Amino acid sequence: MVFKAILAALAVVASAHPVLENRQSQSQSLEEYIARQFNISLEGAIRNIGGANNNIVEAAGEGFVVASPSTEAPNYFFTWTRDSALTELMLIDELIFGTESVGNNSLQVLAEQYTTAQAQLQTVTNPSGALWPAGQGLGEPKFYSNGTRFNGAWGRPQNDGPALRASTFMEIAEAIFQRNPNAATIVGNVYWPLIYNDLLYVGQYWNTTSYDLWEEVNGNSFFTTTAQHRALVQGSIWAERLNRTCEPCQQAPQIACFLANNFWNETGGYILANINANQVTRSQINADPILAAMHAFDINATCDAAALQPCNSRILSSHKIWVDSFRDLYPINDNATAPAAVLVGRYSEDVYYNGNPWYITTLAAAELLYDAAAQFSKQGSVTIDETSLPFWQDIYPDAQEGTVTESVDSLVTAMTDYADGFVSLVQQYTPPNGTLNEQINKTTGEPVSAIALTWSYAAFVTAIERREGNFPPSWGANSPTANNVANMCMSSSYNATTQYSPALAAGAMNVTEECESEVIFQLLWVTGSGENTYLVGNTSILGNTLEDTDNVIQVMRTNNYTDPEPKWFVPAWVPAGVPIEYKYVLLNSTDNSYTFENVTRYAYPASCGNNTVVTTLDTGSFPGRSYDGPLVEQPDVRSEVHFR
Ligand SMILES: *[C@@H]1O[C@H](CO)[C@@H](O)[C@H](O)[C@H]1NC(C)=O
Ligand SMILES: *[C@@H]1O[C@H](CO)[C@@H](O)[C@H](O)[C@H]1NC(C)=O
Ligand SMILES: *[C@@H]1O[C@H](CO)[C@@H](O)[C@H](O)[C@H]1NC(C)=O
Ligand SMILES: *[C@@H]1O[C@H](CO)[C@@H](O)[C@H](O)[C@H]1NC(C)=O
Ligand SMILES: *[C@@H]1O[C@H](CO)[C@@H](O)[C@H](O)[C@H]1NC(C)=O
Ligand SMILES: *[C@@H]1O[C@H](CO)[C@@H](O)[C@H](O)[C@H]1NC(C)=O
Ligand SMILES: *[C@@H]1O[C@H](CO)[C@@H](O)[C@H](O)[C@H]1NC(C)=O
Ligand SMILES: *[C@@H]1O[C@H](CO)[C@@H](O)[C@H](O)[C@H]1NC(C)=O
Ligand SMILES: *[C@@H]1O[C@H](CO)[C@@H](O)[C@H](O)[C@H]1NC(C)=O
Ligand SMILES: *[C@@H]1O[C@H](CO)[C@@H](O)[C@H](O)[C@H]1NC(C)=O
Ligand SMILES: *[C@@H]1O[C@H](CO)[C@@H](O)[C@H](O)[C@H]1NC(C)=O
Ligand SMILES: *[C@@H]1O[C@H](CO)[C@@H](O)[C@H](O)[C@H]1NC(C)=O
Repeated sequence: MVFKAILAALAVVASAHPVLENRQSQSQSLEEYIARQFNISLEGAIRNIGGANNNIVEAAGEGFVVASPSTEAPNYFFTWTRDSALTELMLIDELIFGTESVGNNSLQVLAEQYTTAQAQLQTVTNPSGALWPAGQGLGEPKFYSNGTRFNGAWGRPQNDGPALRASTFMEIAEAIFQRNPNAATIVGNVYWPLIYNDLLYVGQYWNTTSYDLWEEVNGNSFFTTTAQHRALVQGSIWAERLNRTCEPCQQAPQIACFLANNFWNETGGYILANINANQVTRSQINADPILAAMHAFDINATCDAAALQPCNSRILSSHKIWVDSFRDLYPINDNATAPAAVLVGRYSEDVYYNGNPWYITTLAAAELLYDAAAQFSKQGSVTIDETSLPFWQDIYPDAQEGTVTESVDSLVTAMTDYADGFVSLVQQYTPPNGTLNEQINKTTGEPVSAIALTWSYAAFVTAIERREGNFPPSWGANSPTANNVANMCMSSSYNATTQYSPALAAGAMNVTEECESEVIFQLLWVTGSGENTYLVGNTSILGNTLEDTDNVIQVMRTNNYTDPEPKWFVPAWVPAGVPIEYKYVLLNSTDNSYTFENVTRYAYPASCGNNTVVTTLDTGSFPGRSYDGPLVEQPDVRSEVHFR
């Protein structure tokens, strides 16, 4: 393949990697731990990648990043688009910082293998849909680690995946350019088609709900939306660099407007993790905005950049409120008050494994502060306002509102000491062999849940790099493009349908463009508590079944569900002109039981060339249950012009 040779041909002599050398030790044992754990973590992440030397995931395909080698309790032997992109972003930043190889693995080769693996994945038809014609398959959250589709029930789509992956590819492009400033043609031919598919998806679907990074809440997540904004801003900048156009990138000012006007909770002093969400019982105090600001971090950005930076007052206040929510919650924290660091989890209402601290989130608590401290140092001033004052008073009791230029060093030191506190806790709860699981038992401190979690390792590496003063290249957070915020927020979307295409030069399969048409399935049903509705049918995207509980994969959406019209719906692209048999299914999440309808229904997708969306509206017919909702007038079957 063409691109395989790109990085190799252009390799230059690497500068010595400065990590771990340029900081005076504050506590010898913490520094020693960090030096050892850094290498264990970097190697640990790579050992979870298929095809890498000495990997522990032999069944995984080359270039696929496995979430954890754990195959049961829990089974994480899958590849998630999000985790993979964040891990590869960490690895490519290592290459940019000067690390050429880790063990027997060249970071360049790993980047090339990741590229091929993702080029192929983009074309794999899955329960979220296909690449062609409307890109919906790109929103699929996870695949088997051999690169095949996973049909099980899952929270899908997850729209952060394509955005993060696009940014990771643009980072790979940056690494190539740093080695060869004349790489525009080859990056344009090999990488741009791959990036552009994901940018098309972001432009088309940013204004729809999807599942959040914790895979539980269907809504608009701050993390997802921030990642989408960054991807489109970077996309505009790269399009210019590569002499291309990026029409979906023109959605960025609307995304910026959406971010600026919907997520800040003034009363609570924190950014809401999700809005438009199906989980109304949560506070929305969550690690989500902290991880968002870390992803938006750009050492060259100012604290008032539209993409909220770690040094932004709202982010610092969110950090405080989020960390405080765990102080009295986890027994292991012993009700410690600031400025003591504590172990932190995803959000206080978490019940997964009974709700525990995570390595990722405790390291994020540190990394965000290292980022912010670096920005304040660089700017040479700290502005404390009403919003950030409580955060500062916790760690610097003399803090007052106003702009500080004299004692910046003291504030920055207080901040980095606080950050080090979180790393010291991770040290305290790291087993002797350095293996980082997903979680830490909130009572005993024992590692729990998935072992050797790739993202835990990646989180360790990125936190330590920031601590050591190594920052990723600027992505443009301070550019006019990033700070272009629409004056009026409006619903919008870039219609990219029929523009998606396999990235052949990067190794994608030449998927046959089958003729498909869209059917929107609509169900009237008043669900009981803990009940969800699904759709099955005799076509691949509907699980190819009318009875098998293992293949119940298409979850119906609640976006349009109201009391006067309890309507569930889901759109699906299916082979054109082929009648479909289908049924609705109820899942009772209390006892995990499925109830299939006792009728088989039929839908008639438009024929090829007739370009029609068929819409049906059905009233549920489940054995032993009757529809007790309001009567809704059956609309005429709607036909809309589509394509092909
Ligand atoms: C991919 O992995 C899944 C899960 O282990 C397995 O069921 C399937 O047969 C594999 N497919 C191929 C083509 O290897
Ligand atoms: C779509 O965008 C509009 C305008 O910003 C916003 O009010 C609405 O909540 C968004 N909806 C979704 C589902 O993203
Ligand atoms: C940029 O693209 C345009 C249109 O494809 C082409 O005419 C022009 O020569 C290109 N410029 C460079 C510098 O490649
Ligand atoms: C905002 O914060 C306040 C105070 O914590 C809380 O009562 C309120 O429910 C929050 N708003 C939303 C939309 O979550
Ligand atoms: C710690 O906080 C919890 C929850 O507020 C409370 O029940 C407990 O008594 C506190 N423990 C101590 C030692 O203060
Ligand atoms: C955490 O430890 C406690 C005490 O040993 C135990 O009861 C609990 O089940 C553990 N939690 C998990 C998720 O393993
Ligand atoms: C590391 O230690 C943990 C528990 O302390 C253990 O479960 C795990 O198997 C060990 N890993 C290796 C690679 O030895
Ligand atoms: C920040 O900007 C300066 C010049 O303004 C530039 O030299 C430096 O490379 C930028 N930093 C990053 C990380 O891009
Ligand atoms: C891809 O497949 C299509 C349809 O089979 C064919 O027409 C086209 O030439 C193929 N493209 C490449 C680059 O192989
Ligand atoms: C779900 O299952 C539980 C346990 O069998 C039962 O108590 C509950 O009524 C069921 N929910 C519905 C909505 O049928
Ligand atoms: C859901 O609501 C949106 C916004 O009102 C509307 O555009 C869409 O057609 C509705 N879809 C269904 C299937 O009812
Ligand atoms: C989107 O574009 C496709 C292909 O051009 C077209 O068929 C479809 O009608 C458009 N959809 C909307 C909502 O404009």
